[in-house]
Amino acid sequence: MTESSAPVPTAGVAMTAIGVALIRVRETHRPDRLYEDPLAEAFVAAARAGFDDDRWARFEALADQFYEGRSLAVKLVDDHIQEATAAGSRQIVLLGAGLDTRAFRLGLPAGTAFFEVDLPELFAFKEPVLSAQQARPVCARRVVAADLCGDWAQALLDQGFRPDLPTRWVDEGVLGYLSRDDAYKVAATVTDVSAPGSGFGIGRFHTENAEPRYRALRDLVSDGGPGARPVNGLGPDAESWFAGHGWRTTFRAWDDLVAPYGRVGPGSDPGVGEVLAIRE
Ligand SMILES: C[S@@+](CC[C@H](N)C(=O)[O-])C[C@H]1O[C@@H](n2cnc3c(N)ncnc32)[C@H](O)[C@@H]1O
Repeated sequence: MTESSAPVPTAGVAMTAIGVALIRVRETHRPDRLYEDPLAEAFVAAARAGFDDDRWARFEALADQFYEGRSLAVKLVDDHIQEATAAGSRQIVLLGAGLDTRAFRLGLPAGTAFFEVDLPELFAFKEPVLSAQQARPVCARRVVAADLCGDWAQALLDQGFRPDLPTRWVDEGVLGYLSRDDAYKVAATVTDVSAPGSGFGIGRFHTENAEPRYRALRDLVSDGGPGARPVNGLGPDAESWFAGHGWRTTFRAWDDLVAPYGRVGPGSDPGVGEVLAIRE
């Protein structure tokens, strides 16, 4: 294993991926872990060097505050992807993939094409760390370094994406960082390039922007970096939008989704959960 000199995203939205890696490290260390992500440790170790002690302490404190729900959400997406591939899906696209390592750690069929879409600055950090770890994906991993507010569909096609095959799409915490307009442009693009039978899991959460942990996250991310863009994602009308654009939708409440994992949580609003959209 060699040292990496990866440029750490220490501000801006790409740094939020490091926060989720911190959460996956914490889960990995639990004796009753829901999943194991050894590469998360390498990302966190490489990222630590880019932060001063104060910013890193703020970052760790925030990861603790988001840990419970966020870690369960990782497990949910793991299971959804495995269900999709067990049902025959051979094309997965992670929108805002961050430091995700499912192409390495889930036992996906070798013939699976696994696309990771995220900003160029994220991959400028991620790829050298993976190389230093000599990490080898178990399937055909394709890196799509593109802004979801730009022409990312062409970048996806350039990497070999096939619009004629059913695809499993994953939004795991990225659309909420886009403006409503941009988030619906992404939904429209996904619709355009999705073959019948494609699936898209869309989180429905009430993000309280005034809640202290969200305010602290915004402050940390914008410190010393470019000004934060307006964010609000798809919002409460996502399900009706998909239903009106050729998708069949079902909603499952968060508490029902996570019940099988046996983690006792505070209990959620029954309106919080996931919309699963299937392309007709
Ligand atoms: C909270 S992180 C989640 C990362 C990953 N899905 C996970 O759960 O570990 C949000 C990710 O969205 C990416 N992102 C935010 N805005 C983006 C955009 N306009 N285009 C592409 N990626 C974006 C960030 O770089 C970051 O990796």
